[in-house]
Amino acid sequence: MSAPVAIGVAWRQVRDRFRAAGLDTPELDARLLAQTAFGLDAMGLVRRERQAATPEQLVELDRFALRRLAGEPVSRIAGEQEFWGLRFALSDATLVPRPETEQLVEEALARLAGQRAPRIVDLGTGSGAIIVSILEALPKARGFATDISEAALATARQNAERHGVAARLDVRQGAWWQAVPHTELFDLIVSNPPYIATAAIAELAPEVRVFDPKVALDGGWDGLEAYRAIASQAARRLVPKGQMLLEIGYNQAEAVRRVFSRAGFGRVEILKDLAGLDRVVVASHS
Ligand SMILES: C[S@@+](CC[C@H](N)C(=O)[O-])C[C@H]1O[C@@H](n2cnc3c(N)ncnc32)[C@H](O)[C@@H]1O
Repeated sequence: MSAPVAIGVAWRQVRDRFRAAGLDTPELDARLLAQTAFGLDAMGLVRRERQAATPEQLVELDRFALRRLAGEPVSRIAGEQEFWGLRFALSDATLVPRPETEQLVEEALARLAGQRAPRIVDLGTGSGAIIVSILEALPKARGFATDISEAALATARQNAERHGVAARLDVRQGAWWQAVPHTELFDLIVSNPPYIATAAIAELAPEVRVFDPKVALDGGWDGLEAYRAIASQAARRLVPKGQMLLEIGYNQAEAVRRVFSRAGFGRVEILKDLAGLDRVVVASHS
């Protein structure tokens, strides 16, 4: 029988394998995978440093390490990603929510401040990261979440339960507005739709191209198909003072502005992200 291996030794061995392989963040990746393999949070991993790992845990950690060395992102392996300070479960059908998308949540909360019981729809909700974060922050708000992928919606429901907002979130499958009854009007529409042009998908980093679902990335021949579909009904789905917030690709601001101006929005504004890139389009009636 081999000697027991301490948890602290096990994760550092993984870190060293990741370093040797030239991964960008070997220590962070090793810690995060070890937390999942050992069922610990960040503090637990420190506190249980000297505790012996079980053989099963070591086998699991080794499997995780091999997946990471084969290029799979840590969040996919761990099945979770933090977003807006909350932990979101992921599945094969969901995009890993990106830190830049937190700007949509921040803008949404700023614009809804002072409204008593706002109604919000999130089109193409994926893991539910955007709408669940908004509802979690606004206890009187109600939400609607749609996606073409029923499998993604199962994960969104799971995340809504996890963060205690499921009773205020209506989750429905369908293409963009098809899933939303015509009688529903919203104070805010949010969406981070697929916006990569089909031909550009082949040029994405393997972590994205191989592991994010294609339906979550592919915005059609010019990357704008989802914006056109959303714009086709957005103006009549908003209350008079309602607003629409959309994430965009860094080079799409003017094209998306045109789509929404043509669709009847009197005011279309572009917001930049922290890196100074065009990131969010805000459209409203006036
Ligand atoms: C870029 S991902 C965003 C996911 C999530 N909102 C986020 O920010 O992490 C786009 C989402 O749109 C969904 N989607 C793609 N085509 C759709 C369609 N025709 N109707 C509704 N949702 C669609 C995908 O399944 C995916 O979940």
